[in-house]
Amino acid sequence: MDNRPIGVFDSGMGGLTTVRALAKQMPAEDIVYFGDTGRVPYGSRSQETIVRYARQDVAFLRTFDLKAVVIACGTVSSAALGVISAEQDIPIFGVVGPTALRAAQVTRNNKIGLVATAATVRTGAYERIMRHANPMAEITSLACPLFVPLVENGRTQPGDILIETVVREYLTPLKEKGIDTLVLGCTHYPLLKDVIGNFMGPEVMLLDSGAEVVRQVAERLSASGQEADPEREGRCRWYVSDSTEGFQNLASLFLGRPVTEPVEQISIEDY
Ligand code: DGL
Repeated sequence: MDNRPIGVFDSGMGGLTTVRALAKQMPAEDIVYFGDTGRVPYGSRSQETIVRYARQDVAFLRTFDLKAVVIACGTVSSAALGVISAEQDIPIFGVVGPTALRAAQVTRNNKIGLVATAATVRTGAYERIMRHANPMAEITSLACPLFVPLVENGRTQPGDILIETVVREYLTPLKEKGIDTLVLGCTHYPLLKDVIGNFMGPEVMLLDSGAEVVRQVAERLSASGQEADPEREGRCRWYVSDSTEGFQNLASLFLGRPVTEPVEQISIEDY
């Protein structure tokens, strides 16, 4: 048993979809969340900058006595997981590996789509793992840079003409390819599951990267006997690098529950 918290970070708010999955599957775990809201987005930045930011994000989280860190960001997981893992002495989980493996396993026609930020697509990290796990896989990757700002502006619901138009524009080539599995390779995208699902149709399986990493974290903590005491109720602590104003409202959207805990602003450049 290990009641130390799990650290979770993202470039901003998208990682809260992973926290939502974590809290659902492992309700006894304490979570310390850092959202780099002052420097979001990461998805349009260089590898070098993403690695530098990720090191600072982890350095801040490690000021807490953590048992593991979850990189709840497709971009950081793609660009910096190897570097960060090599530098840290606790388990570091990224969203790419478990999601890519599952996509490679569940596809029936070997036609897989990936939607993510430009940085994630550029690294080829998802494709490498999927190809290795399933050499027959035919993978089509697409950067969808407009999804993140639309999600952050609450344009996520079916019937919203703006998001429906953008989804149709981006995803038509994937639909024409006849994919049967679509990886939502960015932690903002689970909020678009309904709109994307309606457009792609019920025969296309959508894989949410947050949910997949949570499955892996649960398995690992259970195997090492490091789960929190099941009798306790997990607590969340929230930290951001920009003003805390509006955090609670937007965070509620991502978490699917009201956020009542306090949120604190920190100076990430100090780490
Ligand atoms: N959280 C990022 C991801 O999952 C999306 C937002 C950004 O570009 O920073 O890739």
